[in-house]
Amino acid sequence: MIAPVRPAPAGPEDGARRSFLARLSIAAGAVAAALVAVPSGLFLLGLRRAPRVWRTVGRLDAFEVGKTVEVSFLDPSPLPWTGVTARTAAWLRRVDDQEFIAFSVHCTHLGCPVRWLQEAELFMCPCHGGVFYEDGRVASGPPPRPLSRYPVRVRAGVVEILTSPIPIA
Ligand code: FES
Repeated sequence: MIAPVRPAPAGPEDGARRSFLARLSIAAGAVAAALVAVPSGLFLLGLRRAPRVWRTVGRLDAFEVGKTVEVSFLDPSPLPWTGVTARTAAWLRRVDDQEFIAFSVHCTHLGCPVRWLQEAELFMCPCHGGVFYEDGRVASGPPPRPLSRYPVRVRAGVVEILTSPIPIA
């Protein structure tokens, strides 16, 4: 008959090792929690905001008066690993020689990208049927607010949009 193998009784060195590992584990957990909590807390308190940056969307002569076209640009704070997702878009309308209006492509319901229908002169959201008039007001469907707008300026023959964090407040 073979006798069962029993672990050796824990000595004072085992207790010290366990205690050290427990403290190390608690410290590592505290560091990990701080790495997540500090940026989240700053964001929630509104202390950490993406910068607002003017982005070039094209030359002035590339836009026809009365037309609404989609333009794309880098978001205000692209991260090194975001790749193509760092690009966002707006619907840009040239009102006259110097005046432009830029609408966010993001529906104010749940953020789906809206499409501009030139013939109907409406923005349509494919997700839940939201419809916006040409000035961005809600025409029908679930969106609670008009389309957000970006400030636009023309400088030295170039059209620029003032980027904003999404959703635009
Ligand atoms: S996301 Fe546009 S209607 Fe719901």
